[in-house]
Amino acid sequence: MDYRNDITGHAPAIETLIATTFTAAEGEQEGALIGTLVARLLAEVPRDALRAFTAWDEGRIVGAVLFTPLTYPDPRRVMLLSPMTVAPDRQGEGIGQRLIAHALDRLRAEGTEIAVTYGDPAFYGKTGFAPVAEATLPAPLPLSQPHGWIAQSLTDAPLTPVKGPATCVSPFNRPELW
Ligand SMILES: CC(C)(COP(=O)(O)OP(=O)(O)OC[C@H]1O[C@@H](n2cnc3c(N)ncnc32)[C@H](O)[C@@H]1OP(=O)(O)O)[C@@H](O)C(=O)NCCC(=O)NCCS
Repeated sequence: MDYRNDITGHAPAIETLIATTFTAAEGEQEGALIGTLVARLLAEVPRDALRAFTAWDEGRIVGAVLFTPLTYPDPRRVMLLSPMTVAPDRQGEGIGQRLIAHALDRLRAEGTEIAVTYGDPAFYGKTGFAPVAEATLPAPLPLSQPHGWIAQSLTDAPLTPVKGPATCVSPFNRPELW
């Protein structure tokens, strides 16, 4: 397995993998919603703010995870993990967990202090994410499933309350994503 830590030359592969995987897993409507999200993230977010990590096997992309900043009136650097996919025919092999661990190591080395995502704690709990109250880490939009708001400190310091409000990059500014 090879990991790549940049987007250059890979944007179409990332977009296709994420859109087709979400369509296969959750249907046309969710696939279209996430496909549009990824297209906008790749087109609109400055390359120094959007981070994409991909896993490749024998020249084929098999996993992708994107991160964008969540900004607060707080000096700590917070990155939002979303979206994340592993190719349907390669799920359940540990690729997803290894890709997240790889990405978090890189982000930690670059100074990210907190990682947060909005997903299934049963999966993300395997890579250190744990439920976090919105009073501790405010979400940028109202959450329809607050139990899916999960985070971790990437430093030795515990995750103490971060003062809101939170601001996400504009492609995430859609209530149906939350
Ligand atoms: C979720 C996803 C990224 C996991 O990647 P993966 O490479 O298949 O996962 P891994 O092999 O590293 O880990 C598998 C473990 O996570 C669990 N897991 C995998 N997908 C899960 C899911 N969607 N929900 C809950 N648990 C899940 C498995 O039960 C397994 O546990 P085990 O090791 O105890 O058997 C991948 O299945 C996927 O792309 N799914 C479709 C898109 C999606 O749902 N993305 C996440 C949005 S929050």
